Parts: sequence; structure tokens; C-alpha cells
Amino acid sequence: MIDANPARPPSPSRDPGKLSPGSYALLQRFIRTESGIVLDHDKQYMLESRLMTVLASPVAKSFGIQTLESLGDVVVRRAPVELVKQVLDAVTTNETFFFRDAPMFEALRTQLLPGMLKRLHRSRKLRIWSAAASSGQEAYSLAMLLRDLGSGATDAEILGTDLSTQVLDRAREGRYAQSEVSRGLPDAFLRKYFVSSGKAWQVCDEVRSMVRFEHLDLRRNIGKLGSFDLVLCRNVLIYFDTETKKQVISAIRPMLSSGGILTLGCAETIINLHDGFRREQIGSATFYTPSGSVPA
Ligand SMILES: C[S@@+](CC[C@H](N)C(=O)[O-])C[C@H]1O[C@@H](n2cnc3c(N)ncnc32)[C@H](O)[C@@H]1O
Repeated sequence: MIDANPARPPSPSRDPGKLSPGSYALLQRFIRTESGIVLDHDKQYMLESRLMTVLASPVAKSFGIQTLESLGDVVVRRAPVELVKQVLDAVTTNETFFFRDAPMFEALRTQLLPGMLKRLHRSRKLRIWSAAASSGQEAYSLAMLLRDLGSGATDAEILGTDLSTQVLDRAREGRYAQSEVSRGLPDAFLRKYFVSSGKAWQVCDEVRSMVRFEHLDLRRNIGKLGSFDLVLCRNVLIYFDTETKKQVISAIRPMLSSGGILTLGCAETIINLHDGFRREQIGSATFYTPSGSVPA
């Protein structure tokens, strides 16, 4: 049993499902340090409801943790590791779906991917990075497009990374519920690239073999991944503060190969974050390419 009673903030909450203002402040700081995710003052209710799933987990029970206050107390001390992981999993927003942002995928399908494949002409593998991959739909969408363009694991590779180990397990499995394949995935792709498996759908091996997933915090040493022809850093910067956004974009820029392209989520922009990119518009989709010799 863990000592869940360190020096604690004044007036701890008595409701097991509530955090005192002091505990919420400590957790805000902890979550920001561990993930970059900024929780504003009005997010306490959201955090409490997400942490309730951790409180109900066998791990929390095995440590005798019965209140959010105790959970907060142990987690901000970074132990036990399993609970810290679960808390980080719980605070990340993992919303995603196949072919999210149709205009962007259309621009990739019709212009950008064919252009990249032609330019490389199998001289080396095309490298794509889904930088906040969540449960893998973005990475598999790209792999399906490439398969349709006649490409495969011998000439293209897609890396998906994420902070949440829970979503990465799901991504690696490549198994999706009916409700998930009903969101954004064209029927033709479902028939071609998935195998029915009980009540779910399994991504077929030829698509899976093009994709690999790794655990990665976008704020830490991402340059080790090498260079990429296409980086999708979508719907994750919105959770960071401006300094962290700048740090991530600056680290990505030198990772783009010559002619490399970056895409962000629809609600995200590079304006005021980095002036070393040129903005390209294809239909209603926006892409960024490194410009000039502005230092990264
Ligand atoms: C809303 S999802 C975006 C998924 C996908 N890119 C899309 O647009 O559909 C955001 C993802 O970012 C991940 N994330 C949050 N903070 C992160 C960090 N510091 N490093 C890496 N991934 C992070 C979350 O775990 C989550 O899966």
C-alpha cells in the first residue's frame, strides 16, 4: 500500500471524485511537464472525469488508492510507473479517424504522393511520419493510399509515434470496431484492405507491413528519427503552449528532406511559430515546405 498522505495542499477535498484546488494545480504542473499538455483552470471537471477511469483500474485498486486526491498525490511523485502511464493516457485526447481532413488526403492522393514517388523513383524508400499517430488511423490511411498508387513496404515506410502507450498498442494491433471503420474510410478501401475478424476489422498484412509505431514525446530528441519526405503533425500542437509549439516546429524543420512537406491540423497554423516555411495551398488544404536559409 502506498503512503498517499504526503505534505498536501490545504483543505483536501472530501469527495473521492473531486480534487482540491491545490491538487489540481499540482497535477496541472505535472501533466505539463510530462506531456506538454496545458490544462486551463476550466478543465478541472474534465480531468476529474478522466481520472475516474484510472481510479477504477485494477492498478489503482492494487495500490489501495481510493480517491482522486490520493491518486494525484502519488502520481505527482512519479510513482508507481504504471499509474503515471495510465494518468498520461487518460489526459491525452486521442480523437482520430480514417482520412481525417478529406481535402488534405485528396491533395496527397492526387498530387503530392505521386510526385514524391516519381521523384524518388525507388532510389530510396519514401519516408512518412505520423507524428501524433493516436490509434493509427492516420498512418494506415496513408499506407492505403500508397498501396493504391502501386507502392508497398519495399519502397515506402510510415512511422507513427505517440506519447500514449495505450493508443500505440491499439495502433500496432490494427484492429478496428465497425463504428471506427464507418468514420471516413471509403467502402472500397474497407473491402480491399481489411479482413473481417469477429465483430471487428483487421488491417491486412500488406498495409500493416508498411507501418511501424514507436513511443515518442514530441518535445524530446525527435531528430533521432532521421529525415522524412512528409510529416503529419496534426491536431496535437493545439494542446501545447506557444513555446512548446515553437520548439516542436523548430525540431521538425531540419528533419524534412529536400522537397519535404509538413502538414498541421485544420485548427493549427505555423504563423507566429516559425518563419522558415513557405505555405502551399492545394485546394483547401494547406501544406508547409522549408523556405530559404532561415535557421531551424
Ligand atoms: C487528437 S490526437 C491526433 C491524432 C491524429 N494526428 C489526427 O489528427 O487525427 C492527438 C494525439 O497527440 C498525442 N500527444 C499528446 N501530447 C504528445 C506529446 N507530447 N508527444 C507525442 N504525442 C502527444 C496524444 O496522445 C494523441 O494521441
